[in-house]
Amino acid sequence: MSENRSSFSGRIGFVLAAAGSAVGLGNLWRFPYLAAQYGGGIFVLCYIILALTFGFALMTTEIAIGRKTGLSCIGAYKKLSSKFSFLGYIAWVVPIIILPYYSVIGGWVCKYVAVYLTGQHNAAAEATFFKNFAMNPTSWVEPTGWFLLFLALTAAAVLLGVEKGVERVSKIMMPILIVLMVAISIFVLTLKHEVLDSNGNPTGEVRTALQGLRYYLVPDLSGFTFKTAVKTVCAAMSQLFYSMSLAMGIMITYGSYTKKDTDLVKSVNQIELFDTGVALLAGLMIIPSMFAFKGAEGLAANGPSLMFISLPEVFAQMPLGRFVGLVFFVLVFFAAITSSISLMETIVSMVMDRTRLGRTAACIIIFLVCLAVGIPSALGYGVWDGVRLLGLQFLDFFDFISNSVIMPIVALLTCILIGWIIGTKTITDEVCRNGEKFGRKALYEFMVKYLAPIFLVVILVFSVLSAFKIIEV
Ligand code: PFF
Repeated sequence: MSENRSSFSGRIGFVLAAAGSAVGLGNLWRFPYLAAQYGGGIFVLCYIILALTFGFALMTTEIAIGRKTGLSCIGAYKKLSSKFSFLGYIAWVVPIIILPYYSVIGGWVCKYVAVYLTGQHNAAAEATFFKNFAMNPTSWVEPTGWFLLFLALTAAAVLLGVEKGVERVSKIMMPILIVLMVAISIFVLTLKHEVLDSNGNPTGEVRTALQGLRYYLVPDLSGFTFKTAVKTVCAAMSQLFYSMSLAMGIMITYGSYTKKDTDLVKSVNQIELFDTGVALLAGLMIIPSMFAFKGAEGLAANGPSLMFISLPEVFAQMPLGRFVGLVFFVLVFFAAITSSISLMETIVSMVMDRTRLGRTAACIIIFLVCLAVGIPSALGYGVWDGVRLLGLQFLDFFDFISNSVIMPIVALLTCILIGWIIGTKTITDEVCRNGEKFGRKALYEFMVKYLAPIFLVVILVFSVLSAFKIIEV
């Protein structure tokens, strides 16, 4: 990206572009299912606190590093300290791990666009529909086909260099997505469901979406032990990295495109607000209604398939459900593809910077690598269900290794570099270079020097110990 280094026209352009990369499947697909899995309100509370402290500190650091050095991640870390240049390479590996499985989920979204287009929305509302396609134990055609389609579309966009065009489209799509999400959320809050017993007979008990709203927003501390606290914080932290595109060099690159007179504090606040707002809305759309249908346990059991099982059920009950479902999945598709394009663009431009390869060759190579790495994720829930890595299915393994291991390592080393080696002043001076007021400067310094490193070490130790089954989770 250092050749033809472009720059954003102004602060709003920068905020929208960074938010466009940040808002994606992480907000719409990953956040709701993690919130469902980790106790609703308590997860949401942890996430918001972490976003305001940790997310803010890390995002400010990365954007300021980018603007100060004017380089993308490999060059930027090298310029700050030659001893830390390896960090740029580690950060760069993250998008390579994420993109393939991101495209698998993107493929699922494509499938649902097709489902709603061809009028199979009633079939899609059956709980077995998703399993029959993505987790089919005998056929590999559909899971790999949709993955291939999404990856090929991403590669084609990067190859044609239409990033700017896609970004422009996403600026129109994003507000529509938000309006639609608000409307769907309001609708689902009116739903109620009669609880059935194990034989499928009505019990007379009615569960409402409003009870689900309480589950989603009000933290329930009963049964909250040290172990569940650590687990919840770990999950919230890994989600934060993923959702805000942190600890993978992306925000450094975006920072390097910003003008020197851009107010970084304001920008970081707005990007965070946007990203967290969309995640909270996505949860609002999915969790209360699913709670009404399935109860807290049923909700937690769904995992990555939550969005694809619960929303079709809701759409089937809505007036104009087929149309709303179609519009919704098209918008999710756009949010996903803008993010996957920025992921691939980062990898490709770095390959071009480091080698003599041109855009086409770099694109083809990265496409093939993603294909090879992604196929196990596409088949992991189905044909290759028996194969596990550290006890995890492929998709969960790649998700774990990037979000819970490599990203905390990158974040930890970045905090050590800034907090203890070159000093937080490097960053705070960059943030305040035009005399801006940095309201949370003391918090920033405390986070980067003390709290964040301690947190990150705990997360890393916990993730690794639980992955190797040394402690039980
Ligand atoms: N932050 C994106 C999401 O929440 O879906 C994922 C992502 C996109 C990460 C683009 C990195 C990136 F460059």
